Amino acid sequence: MNENNLWLERWENREIGFNQEEVNAYLINYFQELNLAEKSTVFVPLCGKSIDISWLLAQGHAVVGVELSQIAVEELFQELGLKANISTLNELTVYQSKNLTLFVGDIFHLHADIIGKIDAVYDRAAMVALTKELRVKYSKHICQITHNAPQLLLCFEYDQALMNRTPYSVEEAEVQNHYGEHYTLQLLAREAIEGGFKGKLPASDVVWLLKSS
Ligand SMILES: C[S@@+](CC[C@H](N)C(=O)[O-])C[C@H]1O[C@@H](n2cnc3c(N)ncnc32)[C@H](O)[C@@H]1O
Repeated sequence: MNENNLWLERWENREIGFNQEEVNAYLINYFQELNLAEKSTVFVPLCGKSIDISWLLAQGHAVVGVELSQIAVEELFQELGLKANISTLNELTVYQSKNLTLFVGDIFHLHADIIGKIDAVYDRAAMVALTKELRVKYSKHICQITHNAPQLLLCFEYDQALMNRTPYSVEEAEVQNHYGEHYTLQLLAREAIEGGFKGKLPASDVVWLLKSS
């Protein structure tokens, strides 16, 4: 089964332990580091039905997201109490309401002319959700479609030899490899996760600010 089908199956089977009940604390603490103007547009790749989107909207920004699973996007609109206008654009289905535009489909079908002007990228559980090969393709694609918009990038670091599945460990050298050509990297936080993953595997939350160089 390919990666995309695995994700669709996870949503169908409600294997969505990655979905947060509360707004991400790193988003709240560090979002201002992006220094965005009022009413900016924030891109949330691989957005699931993240509650972080409601926080970004509440700051007065517009949000554009992309997500493979229609289940996730329909639930997100329902939870936000928004009614979507639904249309199709090539391989993508577009859910739109006020300041929120979500594309249902594969991020690799989303191109610069479709996504429009992006002022910042918020990557939480997107990069780390992808295999090593896909991360190379993903990071290049993010640079292309957003024209190197600044990013708040949340990663995990742990010993990949002890667990080889999502969320993957993405260490500093790899972030540098993916983004060093276009961005200056600034480490905002590296904090041990209490108890590690599942109380067993030591792991850290790492927060990067990527500014166009
Ligand atoms: C680990 S989840 C994180 C979701 C969200 N960012 C959050 O913080 O809750 C990764 C999400 O990426 C979606 N996904 C995986 N590959 C994708 C792709 N190629 N294009 C669009 N979405 C994808 C999955 O369906 C899943 O909802």
